[in-house]
Amino acid sequence: QTIYLSDYKEFSHFIDGVELTFQLSPTKTRVKSKIHFRPNPKAPEQAFFLHGEHLKLISAHIDGVKISPTLTETGLTAEVPTGPFIFEAEVEISPETNTALEGLYMSNGMYCTQCEAEGFRKITYYPDRPDVMATFKVRVESALPVLLSNGNPGTSDEGIAEWHDPWPKPAYLFALVAGDLIAHSDSFTTKSGKDVALNIYVRPGDEDKCAFGMGALKRSMTWDEDVYGREYDLDIFNIVAVDDFNMGAMENKGLNIFNSSCVLASPETSTDANFERIEGIIAHEYFHNWTGNRITCRDWFQLCLKEGLTVFRDQQFTSDMRSHAVKRIDDVITLRGRQFREDNGPLAHPVRPESFVEINNFYTATVYDKGAEVIGMLKRLVGDEDYKRALDLYFERHDGDAATIEDWLKVFEDTTGRDLTQFSKWYSQAGTPRLSVAGEFSDGTYILHFKQATPPTPGQPVKDPRVIPIAVGLLNPNGDEVRETCILEMTEAEQSFRFTGLSTKPIPSILRAFSAPVILERQSSTKERAFLLAHDTDPFNKWEAGRALAKETLVAMLTADAPVNSDFLDALAAVLRDENLDPAFQALALALPSQDDIAQTLFDAGVTPDPMAIYTALETLSQSIAQHLQDLLPRIYAANHVDGPFSSEAAPAGKRALQGAVLGLISRLDGGDQARAQYAAADNMTQQLQALACLLRIDRGQTELASFETQWAQDRLVMDKWFGLQSGLAAPQKAAAITETLTKHAAFDWKNPNRFRAALGGLTGNTAGFHAADGAGYKLVTDWLIKLDAANPQTTARMSTAFDSWRRYDASRQGQMIEQLKRIQATPNLSRDTHEMVTRILGSD
Ligand code: ARG
Ligand code: ZN
Repeated sequence: QTIYLSDYKEFSHFIDGVELTFQLSPTKTRVKSKIHFRPNPKAPEQAFFLHGEHLKLISAHIDGVKISPTLTETGLTAEVPTGPFIFEAEVEISPETNTALEGLYMSNGMYCTQCEAEGFRKITYYPDRPDVMATFKVRVESALPVLLSNGNPGTSDEGIAEWHDPWPKPAYLFALVAGDLIAHSDSFTTKSGKDVALNIYVRPGDEDKCAFGMGALKRSMTWDEDVYGREYDLDIFNIVAVDDFNMGAMENKGLNIFNSSCVLASPETSTDANFERIEGIIAHEYFHNWTGNRITCRDWFQLCLKEGLTVFRDQQFTSDMRSHAVKRIDDVITLRGRQFREDNGPLAHPVRPESFVEINNFYTATVYDKGAEVIGMLKRLVGDEDYKRALDLYFERHDGDAATIEDWLKVFEDTTGRDLTQFSKWYSQAGTPRLSVAGEFSDGTYILHFKQATPPTPGQPVKDPRVIPIAVGLLNPNGDEVRETCILEMTEAEQSFRFTGLSTKPIPSILRAFSAPVILERQSSTKERAFLLAHDTDPFNKWEAGRALAKETLVAMLTADAPVNSDFLDALAAVLRDENLDPAFQALALALPSQDDIAQTLFDAGVTPDPMAIYTALETLSQSIAQHLQDLLPRIYAANHVDGPFSSEAAPAGKRALQGAVLGLISRLDGGDQARAQYAAADNMTQQLQALACLLRIDRGQTELASFETQWAQDRLVMDKWFGLQSGLAAPQKAAAITETLTKHAAFDWKNPNRFRAALGGLTGNTAGFHAADGAGYKLVTDWLIKLDAANPQTTARMSTAFDSWRRYDASRQGQMIEQLKRIQATPNLSRDTHEMVTRILGSD
């Protein structure tokens, strides 16, 4: 059944308060609810309906009188009084058998919840929609020592804890945790002097991995006060780490629940990338307290209202904590790898979708990452001052509301007087605009002619032009910047912009800082790209010039049998020699585009990509780079060695990143000697894993793999890396077989999403391996998706997107991928989640 944005109507009642009592038991948890309803005079006529799924109703009462409501698969209807009334229910649920990890479930003996988006209806009968907000009082009864819920703690006694959340919230922000947990505690004093108790709760044994997360939380709290003027609003803020979790983390009011992989950190077990990601996710969930919780969404179509904005905020935070340039490049790599792929395939949808079958399928790169890009564009268009004023107005006007994208845009219109009608198409039109540009110089005037066009996407054959902020700077041929960055505001399908008073023909730097999420198409010479790589003052475009060179080299190798472009190799050498550059930037410049990126680039150019040929071209290019730079590599490797105790900060992490990139090249020359030495000497996971990865990439490292397994057998998160590395880096012909062997390993716990994603997600991310011509990769992944679907629809549906690229490939691969998709589709009792996903990927109804 499809739900439409245009069908929105208000709920029949308001809620003046909710009281919940949980008597916890693995298979027979009792949930008692008492809900104070009051008619909503503005709501259209409708029967009184409460959501509820997989609940055993024990009893229900209205104003103390027992009732026998009508029950269906999806909920309960009842005759209710015309005025206010109290609804009470008692239901029974079974957390232990809840393998979908949605609602109340158990993980390693602890109880926990995940309610977003529609999990609360698996806990009790309730209007489970974000626009119904209420204050909650929760009583938890259990013999387990730690009993948590949202808000501030009330009285507690042996086996009983009470919690009261004074802030009205939708049910999706409800949370409950009970377990034998250890707290890592600290405190924070807000700007206005309020003391907040902070805790990170973990299972015994993980308590030494909390300190970094706690620091990240305190940095987030300070940053949100300083930059957005947002203070925390409860006496306590709790984070709980859970091993079995479908996603990264969840912003439940005052009780954030995290996938343990997104909060636990130590130098021995976490890489630099892990540290940065953990810091970013802790910030993200914390920032939701204002952008998501205090101001929530009217309905799930507005998901980008909280997610796009909160991603944008966490990106700003990470930039401030680390490096703006490096963070922007990282974010664009992710955007292109995930969101552009989505936007250019069968799953393309607008940042604000207009219909869905299963909302869990819309927690996508488009909603999150393109949603953040749209906010970045808005900020660029109105300027920093007006962005700040608009955000102040947003918080003031909508605190306590369940808001919409219209509300959000109105705040900017009212602040700036701008008409954002055309801008709003960024929310309603799917697809990535192609922006092409040509330059023309005469008599001191340089003209840039732009054209924009967006290819059709499912359900949207025709696209209107959008507002595109194009950041441009001009350099003269000796490398000086003759025009600083300005924002060209493109609104037409074709539009030209002129720069006058120039003495020589400039070299343009276009779409600086990646000022809009578009694909820029620009004819340019190798010399000009190399020039920008050497001289552009915009770090993003400096990196982008090198990336364009790498892509052009690879495309020429693949389509014209061209040799490796030596200008590209010289340009890389120059980057490595430039001691003024940030090592983290140099590492990014050394990295090559992904196989998937090349496949999409070829497809866009009308060439059918051959995954094996792409893999081989990348290998050849890497080998050539290694040989070309061989005199430089040992010196760079040594110069970037970090001494002393491990620090996860940006500077040492950047050096390690460069060292790792260089080690990858060295390994192609020395058969792995240096990598084996680094592996043996490593006292941190970054360097240990780098060395192991370098060895696996050259098909060595069996000894190290075995010793890694012995060393880390007891550490779940490190063992996920062990699984993921092998399926992810296996040579293409062996990838499916190696992954299959991994699925037979005693430690392969397929019901644990992290472990499943490590092994099978490693394979789907190993492009040439997954797409191996014999179809073994497709088949193995399908077998496992079918098996997982019966237990965990959300993770299955998400992982089925591996097949969304089928249209790119040759007839044989297309046929095999379609066959597997149809096999999934035909599975008896397939979940709604996976069915919707597979059907959209196939592109039929
Ligand atoms: N709101 C969470 C976050 O972005 C993610 C929840 C994902 N929920 C889901 N059903 N996929 O932090
Ligand atoms: Zn979020």
